[in-house]
Amino acid sequence: MCGIIGYTGQRPAGQIILDGLRRLEYRGYDSAGIALFDANHELYVARAAGKIDNLISKIEGSLPPAVSGIGHTRWATHGAATDLNAHPHLDPAGRVAVVHNGIIENFEALRRPFVERGLAFSSDTDTEVLAFLIADEIQAGVDLARAVQNVVAQTQGAAAVVAICCDEPGRIVAARVGNAGGIVIGHGDGERFVASDLAALLPHTRRVTFLEPGEVADIRPDEVTYYDTAGHVLAKPVETQPWDPVAAVKGRYKHFMLKEIHEQPDTALDSVRGRYLTAPHRVEVEDLPFTAEQVRDFNRVVLIGMGTSMHAAMVGRHYLERYARLPAEVDNAAEFRYRSPVLDPRTLVISVAQSGETIDTLAAMDEARRAGCPQITICNTPGAQTTRIADATVYMRAGPEIAVASTKTLVGSMIALHALGLHLGRLRGALDAETSRRQVEGALHLPAAIGETLLLEPRVAELAARYAAYEDFLFLGRGLSYPMALEGALKLKEVSYIHAEGYAAGEMKHGPIALIDERMPTVAIALRDEVRDKMRSNIEQVKARRGRVIAIVSADDVSLDGIADDVLRLPEVEPDLSPVLTAVVMQLLSYEIAVERGADVDQPRNLAKTVTVE
Ligand code: AGP
Repeated sequence: MCGIIGYTGQRPAGQIILDGLRRLEYRGYDSAGIALFDANHELYVARAAGKIDNLISKIEGSLPPAVSGIGHTRWATHGAATDLNAHPHLDPAGRVAVVHNGIIENFEALRRPFVERGLAFSSDTDTEVLAFLIADEIQAGVDLARAVQNVVAQTQGAAAVVAICCDEPGRIVAARVGNAGGIVIGHGDGERFVASDLAALLPHTRRVTFLEPGEVADIRPDEVTYYDTAGHVLAKPVETQPWDPVAAVKGRYKHFMLKEIHEQPDTALDSVRGRYLTAPHRVEVEDLPFTAEQVRDFNRVVLIGMGTSMHAAMVGRHYLERYARLPAEVDNAAEFRYRSPVLDPRTLVISVAQSGETIDTLAAMDEARRAGCPQITICNTPGAQTTRIADATVYMRAGPEIAVASTKTLVGSMIALHALGLHLGRLRGALDAETSRRQVEGALHLPAAIGETLLLEPRVAELAARYAAYEDFLFLGRGLSYPMALEGALKLKEVSYIHAEGYAAGEMKHGPIALIDERMPTVAIALRDEVRDKMRSNIEQVKARRGRVIAIVSADDVSLDGIADDVLRLPEVEPDLSPVLTAVVMQLLSYEIAVERGADVDQPRNLAKTVTVE
C-alpha cells in the first residue's frame, strides 16, 4: 500500500519520478504527490487527490528543472483522500519533505508537543508529524540520516519513510521500520533510485539493494551508505534482478488484468521448467535446504496466506496431503497469529504471498519463526521480506503483476505448491511412480491447456453481457474446486463490485440456499471427478428454486446440458491440476463482467496490490 519513488542524479528528476509513480499507481491511487528541488534549491511540491493524471493536470508543464526529488502514490489510512492529505508532507518552514508507507500508531502523541508550541498541522495524516520531527532534529544540528533514524526510533508501528531536506539537495534518506513497506535502492551510473518496489526501478536498473527492517539508507548520486538500528555502517550487497522491464507494460492489451490473464501459458511454462522432469518422471524443487531426513521428520504442515494467496494455499493443502502424506491445515494469516497456534520445530510452515510484503503474512511468519518452525515461502517478488524470513523460497515465476487483482501469480503459486507436494512426497517415500508420472505429464501439458482455456474468451464475453446486470452471485465447488469457488467470488467482488459468495457446495443447503431465486445466479464448478454427481445434485437444487446456473464442466461432459442455463467446457487436464484451468475461466468471467459494467478493472476502488497495514 502506497507507492514511493525517489531519484538523485543528473537527469530530469521530475519526469523520472512521475514515470515511476505511474508504475506504482497499482499500490494505491487515493492521491499522488511529488517534491523536487528547483534550481534555487527550494522545494517545489505538487499534490492532488485521486489518480496520477490529476497530479499531472495540476502540474501542467510547470515541472521545474530538478535533479533530485521524491514522489508518492497513496492508499489512505489516516485522513480522507484529499489534496491536503496527499504526500509529500512538509515541516512548517517547508524545508523537509517526507513520504511514508505504513502506519505511525503513536502519531497523536508525537503531534502533541508541536500543538502545544502553537504549530498547526495542515493534514489529518499520521505522516506529517515525521516532517516536523525531522526538521526539529536538523534545527538542532543533527545530520539528515541520523535525524531520520532518531525520528523513526520514536515511532510505533511499521513503516517505510523517505525524506529530503533543502540543506542538502541531491541527498535522500530512506528508513524501513518493521515489516510494513519494503524499500529497494536502485543503482545506476552516477545516479540512484529509491522505491517501495522493484517495478518502478526496472526501466532504469536491475542492480538493487533491499533494506531490512530497522535499516537506513543515505542515498547520494554516487554512493549509498547503509546503517543498522544502532547507527553502525553496514556493508550491503548489490543484487542483479532477473525481471524483464517490458513485462511491466500493458502493450496491446486494454488492461493489465487481461494481459496478465493471457500471460498464464508462459507462467505455467516458466513454473514447470526445470522442476518437472521426465525419464524418470520426477519433480525437483530448487534450493530447498532440508535433508531427506529432515523432510521425513516433518509431522505436519500449516499453510498461510491472505486473499487469493490463501486460496492457493487451500489447493496446496490437497497436494501436501495427497503426495507427501503430511497432515495439512490452512489458515488465514491474520487469524493464525492471534490464535495461539500450536507449533513446534517439526511443523513445516508454508506461506504464500505474491508481494512477499503482506503484513499479516509477515507477522504470522514471525510467529512461526519464534516457535522454531522450518519455513518455505511461495513468492513472486525477488528479494521480498517473506523470502528473507523463510528458510527457502519457491518462486511463482510469474514476472511483474501490475493489476491489483491477482491472476498469473495464483497460477504460479498453485504450480509451485503442486511441485512442492511432489518433491516432499518423493523425499518422504510417500509417492508411487505412477502418481509421479501422471502429475509430471499433467503439469507439462498445462501451458497448452491454459492456452486452450483462453480460447473460451469470446464465449465468456457473451455470458458476461447477459449476466453483468445481476447484483448477487453464488459460487459453488467441492474438493479442489472449493478454493476456486472462493476465488471466483473474490475476483468478481474485487473487479466488478458485485456481491458474490463462495461456498463449499455441501454447505449450500445449510443456509445459502435461502438466498437463491431468479435474481441470484450460481456459478457451479462441476468437473468430472469423484464429487461430480454431488455437484450435479446441488445444481438441481438451485434450478428447483428458479436460480440461473453457469456450470463449469470437463471437456466432453454433456451431462449438464439442458440442466444448467449455460455451460463452459474446460479442456482436458489432469484432475489434480484442474484448479489452474478453473482459475483462468473465473478470471475471464470477472474481467469481462467488470468491463461490461465499466469498472476500473486494474485499479478497483479501495484496494491496493500490496497490503502493508493490518
Ligand atoms: C487478489 O486478487 C487480491 N488482490 C488480494 O486478495 C491478494 O491476494 C492478497 O492481498 C494477498 O496478497 P499477497 O499475495 O501479496 O500476500
